[in-house]
Amino acid sequence: MKKAFSVLVALMLVLGCFSFSSAEAKTYKVGVSIYQFTDNFMTLYRNEIEAYFKSLETEDVKFEITMADGKNDMAEQTNQIQNFITQGMDVIILNLVQTSSADAVIDQIVAAGIPLVLINREPLAYDADGNTLDEAYEGILNNAQVCYVGADARQSGTFQGEMVAELENHGDINGDGKISYIMIEGDPENIDAQYRTEFSVKALVDAGYEVECLDDQVGNWDQTKGQELCANALTAYGDKIEVVFCNNDAMALGAATAIQTAGRVVGEDIYLLGVDALEEAVQLVKDGEMTGTVLNDHIGQSHAAVDVAIKLLKGEEIDNYYWVDYVKVNKEYVDAQ
Ligand code: GAL
Repeated sequence: MKKAFSVLVALMLVLGCFSFSSAEAKTYKVGVSIYQFTDNFMTLYRNEIEAYFKSLETEDVKFEITMADGKNDMAEQTNQIQNFITQGMDVIILNLVQTSSADAVIDQIVAAGIPLVLINREPLAYDADGNTLDEAYEGILNNAQVCYVGADARQSGTFQGEMVAELENHGDINGDGKISYIMIEGDPENIDAQYRTEFSVKALVDAGYEVECLDDQVGNWDQTKGQELCANALTAYGDKIEVVFCNNDAMALGAATAIQTAGRVVGEDIYLLGVDALEEAVQLVKDGEMTGTVLNDHIGQSHAAVDVAIKLLKGEEIDNYYWVDYVKVNKEYVDAQ
C-alpha cells in the first residue's frame, strides 16, 4: 500500500512536471501584411520571413504567422490591421500599401500596444507643404516600439548609374557625346522608385557625363507593363535609345523581351539595368542579356525584420532604423561567384 502510494506520488510529480514544461511553451502570434502578393520581389521576401521564423522555433517558443495580402489596396490593408488588433497579435510586420497612410496605421497599432516592424516601403518625412524631407520619420522616431527595416534606395540607383559609367563607352553607344536613356519607374508614391529614378541619372551626371532622357514612364513594378512601355519606346525612339533603366527587375525582364523582339542586342547596341537581382535577372546578366542589376537583399532584410520582431517580443530595446546594403551585380560580379 505504501509502495503504491509512493508510485502514485512519483507519477503525479512526473505528470506535474510535464504539464509545467508545456505551460512554459509559448506561441507568439505574428501578423504580417504584404502590400501585394503578386509582387515578385515581395514574394521572395515574405517566404523568407516565414521560413526564418520557423527556423528559430524551439520546443518552448513557437510562432503562429498570419500572412495577409494587401492586394495593393489601402482600405483592404487597413481592415487586415484592424483584424490583427482584434486577434491580439503579439507583433505586426507591415509592408504598407501607401506610405502616406503611415501615421494613421502606426497610431492604431501603437494605441493597441502592439509592437510594429515596417518593411520595404519607407514612410517619408514631409514639410508643411507636403515636400519630401531627407529626414527620419517622426511616427517611427517617436515610438520606442516601432521601427523600419529597409535598404537605402539611393544606393541602388547610384549603383545602376555607376554600372553604365564603368562601361568602356560609358553608355554612349553612338558617340554623340551624350547618354540617351529611357526610365521605367515603379509605383511613383514609393521612395524606392523616386530615388532609383533620381540617383541612377545623378551618378552619370556626377561622373561628368551628359545625359538625355527620351522617355520616362510608370510601370508600377510590373513585368507586363515594363515590356509594353519598353516596346513602345523602342518603336518611338528606335536606336536613339542607348540605355534602359528599370526601377526593378520584374520590369527589366519585360524590357529584355521587348528588346529581343525589336531585334536589338544588349551589350552591343543597347544597355539594360534593373534592381532586385531576381534569379531570372541574374541569369540574364550571366548570359549578357542584361547589363546589370542590384542585389536587393531580401534575405538580409527579412532576417533583420524577424530578428527585431523577436527582440520586441522579448521586450528588449530596439533601434528605430535598420539598413541593409545593396550590392552591384554586373557580369564581373556574377562570373566571380
Ligand atoms: C522594391 C523592389 C520592387 C518592389 C517594391 C515593392 O524594393 O525593388 O521590386 O518589390 O520594393 O515595394
